Amino acid sequence: MDRLLVTGGAGFIGSNFVHYLMAHTDARVTVLDKLTYASTKESLEGLPEDRVKLVVGDIADAAVVDPLVAEHDAVVHYAAESHNDNSLHDPSPFIQTNIMGTFVILEAVRKHGVRLHHISTDEVYGDLELDDPKRFTEDTPYNPSSPYSASKAGSDHLVRAWVRSFGVQATVSNCSNNYGPWQHIEKFIPRQITEVIDGRRPKLYGSGENVRDWIHADDHSSAVWTILNKGAIGETYLIGADGERSNLEVVQQILKHFGRPEDDFDHVNDRAGHDLRYAIESGKLRSELGWEPKFQDFEDGLGRTIEWYQEHQDWWRPAKDATEAAYAAKGQ
Ligand code: NAD
Ligand code: TYD
Repeated sequence: MDRLLVTGGAGFIGSNFVHYLMAHTDARVTVLDKLTYASTKESLEGLPEDRVKLVVGDIADAAVVDPLVAEHDAVVHYAAESHNDNSLHDPSPFIQTNIMGTFVILEAVRKHGVRLHHISTDEVYGDLELDDPKRFTEDTPYNPSSPYSASKAGSDHLVRAWVRSFGVQATVSNCSNNYGPWQHIEKFIPRQITEVIDGRRPKLYGSGENVRDWIHADDHSSAVWTILNKGAIGETYLIGADGERSNLEVVQQILKHFGRPEDDFDHVNDRAGHDLRYAIESGKLRSELGWEPKFQDFEDGLGRTIEWYQEHQDWWRPAKDATEAAYAAKGQ
């Protein structure tokens, strides 16, 4: 695992993974990223130039992907269109990147016999009732709700089929909601943090009772590195850190951090088809591969993330007005 090709490595979770590799391993990394609206080169600034190279290109372009894959020991595939709300507005890039792009990656790793780890989401399993004692496991049936989660489900099925039919050396992981530095401010936690920094009120979709299972992006990275090194080919691993919180609880925690009243938020239009609850049972990853999350205290991790957004206003501010204008047009 000396030379890694990391697709989507300039985005939120992919760039956190590249930072993790620089801090904890000797790996050399090529990032393949289209640099869509969701990414910036700044997320890779300050990393050692002799170990990290950025190639700007599209994962759905076989002429770019094929020779790059041939030069690497493994591909870690993060690149995707990633925001549910955008997928409700225009599903087309989700089908193109998440399904066609994954197909192009699969054909290249098949041709060159290169190891693949495919990054996916727990949203492929649909949602749970609030009072359901069950959590998602590797055996939960697929039941995606949105164009985003359906496109990720499709990409997972392609990977599994390429393993079974062509003997591709791949693993899959499905992770819960990530938080941490470099997350685009269209997403829930950074949107609310930056709204409060700008003196406005956080915005909860619908009732705010929806539950997400939060994990710090650094813990996601350590889990992926563990699976790459110790995971069994053809297997799927669920990644989660027992971080279930309602959206209302998260907003109140953010308000508390800033010393603002706990009810200083607005309810806005709900998301169409809004999944109620996600929850991950990550026992397989922990017992079989020995992984443990480091950020066990969500409130502490959230506090550090708030401080990061306070200190990196130059990074997120250029995207803020357009992001809020797009939400305002939908009453969100
Ligand atoms: P992100 O939107 O922040 O980053 C995606 C990156 O992919 C961006 O850098 C973008 O430029 C790049 N990209 C998009 N289309 C591309 C294309 N056609 N070719 C090359 N690069 C392209 O997303 P994220 O939140 O970092 O998610 C990364 C991966 O993790 C995705 O596969 C997502 O499904 C998965 N995931 C995300 C979460 C979460 O909470 N955000 C949870 C579980 C799994
Ligand atoms: P999001 O960050 O978009 O992640 P996902 O859809 O993958 O779970 O949203 C997380 C939760 O927060 C989800 O229940 C929708 C909700 N949400 C709000 O209540 N307000 C907001 O402004 C946004 C962006 C999301």
